Amino acid sequence: MSYTIGGPPRLFGLVPCAGSGLRAGTDGPKQYAPLAGRPLVAHTLEVWAGLLEVEATLVVLAPDDDRFEQVVPQWQGPRCWSARVGGLTRAESVAAGLAELAVRGVQPHDWVLVHDAARGLLQPQWVRRLMSACGDDEVGGLLALPVADTLKQAGDEEPARVDATVPRAGKWAAQTPQMFRLGLLRAALAAAGPQVTDESSAVEALGHRPRLVSGDPENFKLTWPGDFALAERLLATRMTPSS
Ligand code: CTP
Ligand code: MG
Repeated sequence: MSYTIGGPPRLFGLVPCAGSGLRAGTDGPKQYAPLAGRPLVAHTLEVWAGLLEVEATLVVLAPDDDRFEQVVPQWQGPRCWSARVGGLTRAESVAAGLAELAVRGVQPHDWVLVHDAARGLLQPQWVRRLMSACGDDEVGGLLALPVADTLKQAGDEEPARVDATVPRAGKWAAQTPQMFRLGLLRAALAAAGPQVTDESSAVEALGHRPRLVSGDPENFKLTWPGDFALAERLLATRMTPSS
């Protein structure tokens, strides 16, 4: 089959890091805000640098980013790539990063694992769980968690009031990494447009059914001001380094 012509598929990381972090209320982009003494994205990238089964990882930066090399000086070498091709939405940043990967020789059948820079508590064993679950899959998949709480749909007013209760059965909360082949993911994002909030939804819109692989509650996306203090408490109780 055609996938084998270029050899077995390889694995690449792609880390969108071009947002501004409005909800976090940090002084500057949240990916550079300090978490336990280091920028948030330095925690994230330490994991990717240590995953030796990943050929290289591309960090997508905003075109006007003037801080990355200064605050993450350890991100260098043949497996640590960066490009200032970020867009106005996360989907645009990821799409631009995928185009850059293609320029750098990544093939359509190679796997790309897209991971939010803002999920700085990632552990390598969760990435490996996803890779082993999806490596033989036709489509790919994502880390996600079954929703534990009862879900409420709010109306528009302030203070918020419940419009409806949404049945929770079968609902999962999507995390990252999300693992798809470069060719499928490029086509999916091009068709889905700039507003999709994850890769899976773009792939689903083409009629595919990605695998749901158990993530971890600690793999949350640092989004709100209080998330930095919560993440610091969790890091303080970890017994071993995360790489
Ligand atoms: N991201 C990106 N390009 C954008 C928007 C987001 O690369 N135009 C990245 C962020 O840097 C982050 C990840 O996508 O690592 C997840 O996005 P989110 O948590 O929403 O971060 P922000 O968009 O920066 O935050 P906010 O939505 O609160 O402004
Ligand atoms: Mg955002």
